[in-house]
Amino acid sequence: MGAMRLCFLLFCLFLVSVSSVKKLNNIDDLRNSGYGRPHPRHGLQLIFWFAQRVVVDQNNNRFSLNFNPIEHVYGFHLFRNGEVILPLLSSRQSYYSVGNLNYRHANALPEYVRRFYRNNNLPERNMDRLMISLEENSSLRTSRVFVTAHNRNRNDFNSSETYEIDPALILQIRQTYSCTNYGISSTSNHDNDNEDDDTEEKRCSQFLTETGYSSNYCKNPNNRRKKRSPYSQCNAYEGIKLQIKTTTQGYSKLIWKIPADIMKNYKYLYIDICQNTYSSDQEPTQVRKTYFLIHESSGALDTSVSLNDGLQPQLRLYTSSSNYYLFNKPYLWYGPEFDGANKVIPIRIKGFDASLQLYAGHGKACARLYIKKTFSDWKTVLYYSWVGFYKSSQDKNDGYDTYQYAVNFAMIDNTTIKNYDIYQYDSSLAMAPGVQIRFLLDKKYNNVLARTTPWESDEKVTSVCDKGNLQPKPSSTWSYPEFFYEPEFFDANNVIPIKIQMYDAGLQLFTKDGKACARLYIKKSFTDWKTTFYYSWVGFYTSSQEAHKYYSTYQYAVDFEKMGDGTNNFDVYQFKSELAIAPGVEVRFLMDKSYDKKLVETEPWKSG
Ligand SMILES: *[C@@H]1O[C@H](CO)[C@@H](O)[C@H](O)[C@H]1NC(C)=O
Ligand SMILES: *[C@@H]1O[C@H](CO)[C@@H](O)[C@H](O)[C@H]1NC(C)=O
Ligand SMILES: *[C@@H]1O[C@H](CO)[C@@H](O)[C@H](O)[C@H]1NC(C)=O
Repeated sequence: MGAMRLCFLLFCLFLVSVSSVKKLNNIDDLRNSGYGRPHPRHGLQLIFWFAQRVVVDQNNNRFSLNFNPIEHVYGFHLFRNGEVILPLLSSRQSYYSVGNLNYRHANALPEYVRRFYRNNNLPERNMDRLMISLEENSSLRTSRVFVTAHNRNRNDFNSSETYEIDPALILQIRQTYSCTNYGISSTSNHDNDNEDDDTEEKRCSQFLTETGYSSNYCKNPNNRRKKRSPYSQCNAYEGIKLQIKTTTQGYSKLIWKIPADIMKNYKYLYIDICQNTYSSDQEPTQVRKTYFLIHESSGALDTSVSLNDGLQPQLRLYTSSSNYYLFNKPYLWYGPEFDGANKVIPIRIKGFDASLQLYAGHGKACARLYIKKTFSDWKTVLYYSWVGFYKSSQDKNDGYDTYQYAVNFAMIDNTTIKNYDIYQYDSSLAMAPGVQIRFLLDKKYNNVLARTTPWESDEKVTSVCDKGNLQPKPSSTWSYPEFFYEPEFFDANNVIPIKIQMYDAGLQLFTKDGKACARLYIKKSFTDWKTTFYYSWVGFYTSSQEAHKYYSTYQYAVDFEKMGDGTNNFDVYQFKSELAIAPGVEVRFLMDKSYDKKLVETEPWKSG
């Protein structure tokens, strides 16, 4: 009886919460909702960021992610929904939440999400969250996305600030603030290795303006002149740029740009480089490593401070000599803290529950291994595996500068990421632009299971701007679904290709002349695929209910027709069947002539 009553209660709660979560269908809805405004809130920035990193599958109203939130990347973590602020989920689903900028892993979020957090103490600076629902077994897909906000200075959430995000809104953001619409061509200038972020930043800033977000928000503009610092209330955040990059010797390079009016209004301008050190959850302790008196409004300086996680540039501004000599507090403006991984999330080690990340520690290149706790025999399985450190991605596998066996890495952390242990090795190689690490399975040199994005590399210029804006940045290097983001072949009713288990290959159903067609994506590095898939075939089925042997027609993978040069990383092969396309039609990839080794099947075709 009690249980029944509880069920009924839960059911009512469910109804209440479902009916009360409003849905935002387009940018107008978002603007009218007032969500995420004004400065220093960051909810609108989270929505924009998310839109850059998912592919919307319109048929199924789902999103595909190019990172795995279960790994805690970007600070994603399980959200229990205890207050039932979001609709209840089935027991096979959970919510994950991102946006708490307190988390160390949230350091990987772009500068435009984090900017106001640093120079503010208002509770609004960290109240917004984005939540996604995940299926138990497919953490790379989500069907529902929400935004919400904490009540000010409290732990609970505000139901009148809770909204569901319709996939149409995400699509509209991608299309409206696309690179082409803003005339940003990422191929025009490869010298600027920060350009990727800059284009995203510019597009985000347009988005913010047009959704009514003002970064120059002043509580009382008339007060402006009375303040000691003209920037303490209405600050010129947009204009100041402080940044730490890498010299060729493992030291930090300071880059700055300060608006002319700030240069004019202050007598002395200093830039400090400080080292933040974190112990548990407390505020960091900060030590000043060096400082510079600045005369020019912009410039770059090689410093003698070793590149390290937690370095932070800050601007100190003095209005007069007395302000300086009498030890009056200067106005301080904090630049972005340097992230040890340079905001690049770990890359999957192919075939294993483990990932690899390049990390800067005291000026040296370090490697981090993330090993899933359930992968308990990893020291046996990866006994001969090693991580090579390379000065350049062009170096041959045996041209490493130094290396270390995976089993010799030291565990540095087994608590911050719930299901993972983190191991690290600090190499002797000075960190420099272009440095890369690779994970090799055994003592041979041809079994590379992971390679990182070269440090501060131009290679990441394969940005969303190169790809007609349909795909998110592949620089987020979660290698598993990377081929989802390959450009040209997006005609398959907007259904992304599905990975063929264990192999660097994908399968997609599409239609041509009314017939069901299949497309294979074979990664260019998968050179012996014709041997591996010699007996493999693709079956065409009128329905997902059909047993494997009741295909309508089939074709061997090796007999598919090669389509031109394919994409950057994949060769593309196609086959047009005689089966008429119709709702329910699907294709399956079978490993060999037996009928029981299905590696993958596509979603059944949907009409319209
Ligand atoms: C989900 O994963 C579990 C354990 O890995 C497995 O037993 C279960 O069959 C999977 N469910 C589906 C729907 O694939
Ligand atoms: C909840 O959000 C509404 C709308 O923004 C706001 O008026 C209200 O003050 C918020 N409640 C709390 C407790 O912060
Ligand atoms: C972390 O590692 C230490 C030492 O190896 C061990 O005592 C502790 O139980 C581990 N904690 C977790 C959560 O695995």
